[in-house]
Amino acid sequence: MNQDNNDFNLRVIPALLDEMLFWNRQLDEHARLIRSGVDLGEDNVFREADQYVVMYDQLLTQLQSTELNANPSMVIYLLNRTRMLAAGLREFKIKVAQGIAECRIKAMIPADLVDHIRRELDFFIGNLNAVTNGPIPTWEDLGLDHIQQNVSLVPRMLLGEIENRIVCQVSLEEMLFWTHISGDHANLLASYFKPNIQAQFTQETSQFGAEFDRLHQQTFQLRNQRGNLAGIMQSAAELNQCWLNYLLELGRLLASCRIPGQGINLWPALVTHIYREQEYFQSVLMILLPKAQMENC
Ligand SMILES: [Fe+2]
Ligand SMILES: [Fe+2]
Repeated sequence: MNQDNNDFNLRVIPALLDEMLFWNRQLDEHARLIRSGVDLGEDNVFREADQYVVMYDQLLTQLQSTELNANPSMVIYLLNRTRMLAAGLREFKIKVAQGIAECRIKAMIPADLVDHIRRELDFFIGNLNAVTNGPIPTWEDLGLDHIQQNVSLVPRMLLGEIENRIVCQVSLEEMLFWTHISGDHANLLASYFKPNIQAQFTQETSQFGAEFDRLHQQTFQLRNQRGNLAGIMQSAAELNQCWLNYLLELGRLLASCRIPGQGINLWPALVTHIYREQEYFQSVLMILLPKAQMENC
């Protein structure tokens, strides 16, 4: 399918801008994460990651211009620029994840984490393409299941408009994607606290990881059968709110140097990065949950 097909309804522009403003910032930080997560001698990875950081910073500056809503041709330009950068960054992430998995690239970050940020990129581009006639990712691309079925993605600002049975399909897929992502976040954080002195944080974040993994399993079991998806979404919203509160407090402890043993063994900005993604998940749940309840999903 043509990546530059811009034959779409201009009504979706605010939803496109919302997705681009949110996710391009996250992708910028993904490039920085790769940059700071590989070994000191990995010059090729540094150079390529740095190029993405520069290009994403330029793109974000343009996206933050206040007149964009009234300038469709500029939005289309930025949409194409976003797609082009994302296509390159996607290949880079796949290459780095394979290199780490095969020990050709020495790194502190695991290959699984690089695959996690590749799945986030596919989710983002899928949201844009869903309303601009571009290629849609499959369940396998987003790590939902090993099947080639297309995902029913909808940008979050347009989720309020969906109705009838599509509500249950979109809710199932958003839940499968985000409970997996959230479990990864908590399990990742748990592995980076200092031994002994921060054992309490390891234990608490591991607990969040286990609870998101449990909700993911429960949702996964519903993919081919009816069940209480709305009930699991309610539990996810409650758990995610506790997780957001926890991350906020952790960020405060780090910013004020009040965490036992001072810093943690990972980049403090990653806590904020994860917080933003969990907030995105919460905003999706707040829109979909009443709809899923009404449809008896
Ligand atoms: Fe991310
Ligand atoms: Fe993430």
